[in-house]
Amino acid sequence: MFTEAVAISVRRSAPSSPSVIRGKGCFLYDEQGKSFLDMSGGSGAANLGYQRDDLVEVLKRQSELLIHTGWNIDNPQRHEVVAKLAGLVPYAQASVFAAVTGAEAIEVALKIARAATGRQGVVYFHNSFHGKTQGALSVTSNSGFRKHLAGDNLQLTALALDYAADQDPARATLWREQLAEHLQQAQQANRLPAALIIEPIQAAEGMYPVPLALLEAIVELGKRFGVITIFDEIYTGFGRTGTPFFSNPQLLPDLLVLGKALGNGLPISAVVGRPELVDCLGYAEHSSTFTLMPLACAVASKVLDIYHQEQPWQWAASNGGYLRQALESFGEEDSRVANVRGRGMMLAFDFEGTGKGGDVLALRNRLLEHGVIVRTGGRNPATVKLTPPLCMSQQEIQAFIQTLQGVCRSL
Ligand SMILES: Cc1ncc(COP(=O)(O)O)c(C=O)c1O
Repeated sequence: MFTEAVAISVRRSAPSSPSVIRGKGCFLYDEQGKSFLDMSGGSGAANLGYQRDDLVEVLKRQSELLIHTGWNIDNPQRHEVVAKLAGLVPYAQASVFAAVTGAEAIEVALKIARAATGRQGVVYFHNSFHGKTQGALSVTSNSGFRKHLAGDNLQLTALALDYAADQDPARATLWREQLAEHLQQAQQANRLPAALIIEPIQAAEGMYPVPLALLEAIVELGKRFGVITIFDEIYTGFGRTGTPFFSNPQLLPDLLVLGKALGNGLPISAVVGRPELVDCLGYAEHSSTFTLMPLACAVASKVLDIYHQEQPWQWAASNGGYLRQALESFGEEDSRVANVRGRGMMLAFDFEGTGKGGDVLALRNRLLEHGVIVRTGGRNPATVKLTPPLCMSQQEIQAFIQTLQGVCRSL
């Protein structure tokens, strides 16, 4: 019975995916030795590729010394991670609040915003994705822990974005005025939210870049109304879009949420921001058993060294540009490959066949037969999402494009 349930849950979690036993670089391998070029990059976490030698070395060494202690026993690696991360993010001075998964870090960011403002509400945006937890605190009874939990009235507001605003300054101005009006009215009604939360590129729903003018408006209005701005950079962070982070000193939210590539496959995430804000959430007001475990910290510390030394965002900028150009030229030949979008190694296109996403599934399955993994779906089910490891070479990208061309011709 139990085995059956596990089998069902695994099958549900990975329809039409291969079962793999090892990886190297940008490739995964199944038991028969068949290779798969991973254009999903381990859900965007394997920025430096699979089984990179120096990371495996650190992993081996640390696993022989100490894997886990519990969050409240200190280890030197966590101090290294915090210091190195604080030196990479775009804040002049930063505090780091660590967590294990991306969704957990989002919960931390919301807690910080609620702790800092004493308010409950959150404004989020259409087509957003920030994780799948339901607020574990809502079923936890300790009143100290529940301090920053939203009550029955969650005061959540979803606002629409205007994706065409970057092409038309008048539309950007209108959108900004509407957001200002929304916040003004909330202020008058004494219902100002604690936070505004957004992904700079909306990943899960199909890699939709949020127009820069809208992100600027969010940061500016957040400041003006005293609402904490949160950029969810769990996907866009760590070089994926061609710069270290999407945020930069000119476009700086109050809080930056990071995850995925920080451990290059080991579970570790973080919320980063000015110390006086992040430190609003006191010691023990949020933690998990595995927070800052020695093994994940040792690997993340090495990952951060690699970021400092090798600047992998440059690979994302050049190789991502190459991939995008190749997709666009192929789209000129085959009109089903449409709406190429994204930045760096965070790209997508819509495979517009005869509708309802049927053709895109055929494309995904055929690519898999030919040894290429892609992820599909989102707001438009026909979307193909490409987030390969940043270290994918132009030769490997060429091989992907050739396979895509061959498969498209056969459909
Ligand atoms: C933008 C964004 N936020 C949050 C999450 C949730 O992260 P996790 O799956 O590690 O909980 C994801 C996961 O894909 C994501 O893409």
